[in-house]
Amino acid sequence: MTDVLRLLASQVVQDLRGLPRRGRAADRRVARAGSVEEIRAAARAALPKVIFEFVDGGANDERTVRRNLADFDEIALLPRTLVDVSAVDISTTVLGQSIAAPIIGAPTGLCGLIHHDGEVGLARAMHGAGSIYTLAAMSSYTIEEVATASPGPLWFQTYLWRDHGIVRGLIERAAAAGFGALVVTVDVPRSAERHRDRRNGFGLPPRLTARTLAGGLRHPRWTSDFVRRPRITAANVADGPAGGDAVSVAGYVDRQFDPAATWDDLAWLREAWDGPLVVKGVLDPADARMAVERGADAVVVSNHGGRQLDHACSSIGALPAVVDAIGDDAEVYLDGGIRRGSDVVKALGMGARACLVGRPIVYGLGAGGAAGAARTIEILQQELRAALMLLGAPSVREIGPQQVIAPGPISAAAGP
Ligand SMILES: Cc1cc2nc3c(=O)[nH]c(=O)nc-3n(C[C@H](O)[C@H](O)[C@H](O)COP(=O)(O)O)c2cc1C
Repeated sequence: MTDVLRLLASQVVQDLRGLPRRGRAADRRVARAGSVEEIRAAARAALPKVIFEFVDGGANDERTVRRNLADFDEIALLPRTLVDVSAVDISTTVLGQSIAAPIIGAPTGLCGLIHHDGEVGLARAMHGAGSIYTLAAMSSYTIEEVATASPGPLWFQTYLWRDHGIVRGLIERAAAAGFGALVVTVDVPRSAERHRDRRNGFGLPPRLTARTLAGGLRHPRWTSDFVRRPRITAANVADGPAGGDAVSVAGYVDRQFDPAATWDDLAWLREAWDGPLVVKGVLDPADARMAVERGADAVVVSNHGGRQLDHACSSIGALPAVVDAIGDDAEVYLDGGIRRGSDVVKALGMGARACLVGRPIVYGLGAGGAAGAARTIEILQQELRAALMLLGAPSVREIGPQQVIAPGPISAAAGP
């Protein structure tokens, strides 16, 4: 036993000595990364398993996580040749806001667990890339902190929690801080089972077990960050009725998910929020219609990145029917499984106006803080530009169903 302790102590000393060197190596790894998959690998190396798997994982057997990716792989692109693509334009607009590329930062809660830059780092990365960041209600930095630290276009995401008073307070703060749109997530009547989190003993706030301590020792950069600048609670609600320590905040928030919420509650939210409203988490075209009839300006076709109902269909699979049902009555975005610029092309070709990315930027954050998230967005934008050129499409506005084909033989080409 004493040998084991001695070994552990010497490893800790070595790790601490190597900290600056390791830090630089991690930064170089991020700078060299050329794909979201490589950023993901860098995050896996930088983070304790329990933290990486919280980001990477999904509900139950993770079928929907995999299906989100696999269904993109099944779709092929049909390029045109000898088109002048010397100046491709990947910019677009969403809800009247110009953005440099149709890639928006998805809301992801508690990012202070991943890196002390947290949501401030993600907002800075998205703004640096000329786009929008969506701040989750469950963020580890407050609405006001993020708006002050990164004054670019922001959307605010909330849930239809039981206590409408809390939701009203949050959206009033978001409006005062200049957030341009409200995103309401409708696919969480309760939190789902996440087996990887259960097996890892992951909880909110993180519990310091022997295993988490050992994981932390093997990732001294993350650990020293976590110990010196802890951001482990839902900052927006910590000062409210949830009150007190991180344990009571986590329990309070969990009790707020409302299995009795219906479309009438959405009508309430529509009344309470003056600006554009985005409904996130619909897959069925009938739900998309319900959202639009109750005043949504946009819907996000999403299965929460496979983190809610396992076995739900992929978001790319659900997209065409939603686009058909909505027509021009609202904008349609997609999230879930975007890992390449060519995935964005596929989603646009199937009718989405823009895509949101969740894990990709959080992997970037884990791998290298705000700079890592920025590198991730840079990669996706570069890939999108390259894909457009190779596809013979001079701008994202010219991507349509003619360039996107489902598996199987292609039918005779139309068009000039
Ligand atoms: C770590 C993590 C935390 C998340 N937290 C939230 C959240 O607080 N609110 C929300 O609406 N969606 C949340 N999501 C879901 C994302 O907004 C998005 O729907 C999903 O990540 C898209 O799939 P992708 O990760 O394949 O891009 C979270 C996702 C991850 C990975």
